[in-house]
Amino acid sequence: MTSADLAIVVEDLKKTFTARRKSAPVEALRGIDLAVNKGTVLGVLGPNGAGKTTAVRILTTLLQPTSGRAFVQGRDVVKEAAKVRELIGLTSQATAIVDELTGRENLEMMGRLHHMPRATALARADELLVQFDLADAGDRTAKTYSGGMLRRLDLAASLVSHPDVLFLDEPTTGLDPRSRLAMWEVIRALVASGTTLLLTTQYLDEADELADEIAVIDHGLVIAAGTSDELKGRVGGDIIEFTVPDREQLAAARRAVESMADGGPPVVDDAAGRVSVRVGSAGSEALVETVRRLDAAGVTSAGLALRRPSLDDVFLALTGHAAEQTEQSEEVAS
Ligand SMILES: Nc1ncnc2c1ncn2[C@@H]1O[C@H](COP(=O)(O)OP(=O)(O)OP(=O)(O)O)[C@@H](O)[C@H]1O
Ligand SMILES: [Mg+2]
Repeated sequence: MTSADLAIVVEDLKKTFTARRKSAPVEALRGIDLAVNKGTVLGVLGPNGAGKTTAVRILTTLLQPTSGRAFVQGRDVVKEAAKVRELIGLTSQATAIVDELTGRENLEMMGRLHHMPRATALARADELLVQFDLADAGDRTAKTYSGGMLRRLDLAASLVSHPDVLFLDEPTTGLDPRSRLAMWEVIRALVASGTTLLLTTQYLDEADELADEIAVIDHGLVIAAGTSDELKGRVGGDIIEFTVPDREQLAAARRAVESMADGGPPVVDDAAGRVSVRVGSAGSEALVETVRRLDAAGVTSAGLALRRPSLDDVFLALTGHAAEQTEQSEEVAS
């Protein structure tokens, strides 16, 4: 891969918010590196206060780094800030929507801010209202929109100028499950159309669903990076579990699967008649092999299932604490 394939590059980026009186400086970013291939999705996953928004604000030229460098489409976000702004879209945690304007007017205004002629801005607004399922609500003021509609309008607003690279800061926080799924669909469609995306989230399932690569950040540092599968692989492989209703067959079941175990012998829960085997990364093949072996040994099993380690397991293993926690509990902890 060459640097020409990279839409976003971050090198040893640091941001310290200097002290107000009596309060210590906050090291929001303590030296992070990121690289995002064109047309892919990077999920930046971290709890409250990890430094996600700080990173997004620097990459979108809204904030100066203390040190380190960052590039979007090869452009330096500090030295070529104006050029970078032409290439990007941002949907931030604080919405950019004006309540008193209609959905259409909000989008039109955004187009005008991007120096589009009025007719072009209006045409683009109409196109986006349709794309984001807001056509019927286009002439209502934004203050009458539901949370999910506002989020879609906000996302539409960040797309007015057809950005190459889009930054979404926690796009689904606070949405109900249905709106969340709808937002995921919209995001998938954007990525399918070639947009590079950096998305921050506190939600493991969201990173899992949408991101090609995940950077886990905690207290201003990238503590792990890779695909979801790679991260899960680091906590250990898949686990096969089944029960043996006839306890007499439990020992035979254990012997049958013993040589498949990877990372510790099978665990047998005698009381529950349950067998768990850690099988490494080739889980689905191991599942077929388990069926074959139990069959050959004449063992009747029930509830045979393959369990993958979750990103929750990953986060816990890496940080010693769960991912989804409140800022308050974090302050208490540190
Ligand atoms: N303008 C600022 N002045 C002082 N400290 C700040 C400022 N902005 C952010 N911080 C601090 O920097 C740290 C990182 O904040 P940031 O907003 O980047 O976290 P985050 O990962 O986006 O969190 P959340 O999930 O809550 O949005 C926090 O400790 C925060 O209090
Ligand atoms: Mg934030």
